[in-house]
Amino acid sequence: MTNTIIESEKITGVPFVNFKRQYQQLKSELDAVWEGIMSNGDFIMRKHLEDFEREIADYIGVKHAIGVNSGTDALYISAHALGWKPGDEIITVGHTFVATIGAIAQCGATPVLVDVAKDYNIDVTKVEAAITSKTKGIIPVHLNGRAADMGKIMELAKKHNLKVIEDAAQALGSKFNGKHTGSFGDTSIFSFYPAKMLGTAGDGGIVCTNDDALAFKLRALRDNGRVDDVKVINCYGYCTRLDNLHAALLSAKFKHFDDWVSRRREIAQKYDDAFKDIADLGIMPAPSDSPNFDVYQNYVVRTKRRDEFTAYLKSNNIGYLISWIVPNHLQKPLKLDHFDLPETVAISNEVVSLPMYPEMTDEEVDYVIDKVKVFFK
Ligand SMILES: Cc1ncc(COP(=O)(O)O)c(C=O)c1O
Repeated sequence: MTNTIIESEKITGVPFVNFKRQYQQLKSELDAVWEGIMSNGDFIMRKHLEDFEREIADYIGVKHAIGVNSGTDALYISAHALGWKPGDEIITVGHTFVATIGAIAQCGATPVLVDVAKDYNIDVTKVEAAITSKTKGIIPVHLNGRAADMGKIMELAKKHNLKVIEDAAQALGSKFNGKHTGSFGDTSIFSFYPAKMLGTAGDGGIVCTNDDALAFKLRALRDNGRVDDVKVINCYGYCTRLDNLHAALLSAKFKHFDDWVSRRREIAQKYDDAFKDIADLGIMPAPSDSPNFDVYQNYVVRTKRRDEFTAYLKSNNIGYLISWIVPNHLQKPLKLDHFDLPETVAISNEVVSLPMYPEMTDEEVDYVIDKVKVFFK
């Protein structure tokens, strides 16, 4: 990854993310967290974790939030707590990070993949046809910081008696019809991987639920079967706690979260305004066009000239990301190539994510815009 190169005020590049700049901006707050934790030896399951869990639960509007060591483990223990097992079919999308599908496979259930729509989220018109007598659940993914159609998904779940895990790894802060993503499903998960909406200094994640019994199971699963009284083992579990240090760092960063979301939306609006009339470049609808609230974890564009475009971005020191260049169902070892997902395949050939993070300066946003416009002229 390149760093932003500013020579005599002249920008000559923009990295895809800029962790160093975020640290420089929050240095005194984050250093104080580190010093406090190290001085007191507050490492595992301490007050910082409890406080952070409460902050997230209140923010999302759910009863329980349980800190774990990654979004992946949040998915895995959700699937386990819901009791999914061999013979069960669980519906999700092909166009997602592999961990979404992995959670289904890891508990022995069968992933049933449906295609996504033009907004990169689950095509809800395709879900009902995928439901069989074996279907036990759905995992919608709120990709790129945009909510999937939770109205339709919860309607189908109710009609067919299915459990729902919302994969909101990329979507902290986003809303569907005014309600936070992560507040609809039986459980929901968020990731605190460094480049996520809210990122820690390593791996981290959280599971949310309104169900007391599920919350108990999830707490037991994340800490080798223990909940509150460590003498009592409630089940076999895992060691997947969110470290107290990460929780404290995340709490410190969370104070800035609303400002960060506003800045992401501002940058997205600038990109949208600049790119909307470029014929060869597909963009997501602008925030104002949407009944929901997008947080822009990623700013994704589509072009049939992707190889040429990414080579050009590289030559101009502009960082980019392709999610995902080989779709999951075409990864041979996963044995999922019996699914026919034309939109997923088209997306994997055309998408590019441009730099998008709150610390980007207006000059950097303009640099990206100018270069993109020159390419498509
Ligand atoms: C959609 C989605 N689900 C799950 C995950 C897994 O999260 P983590 O990296 O914290 O394990 C990610 C992370 O990239 C993701 O993007």
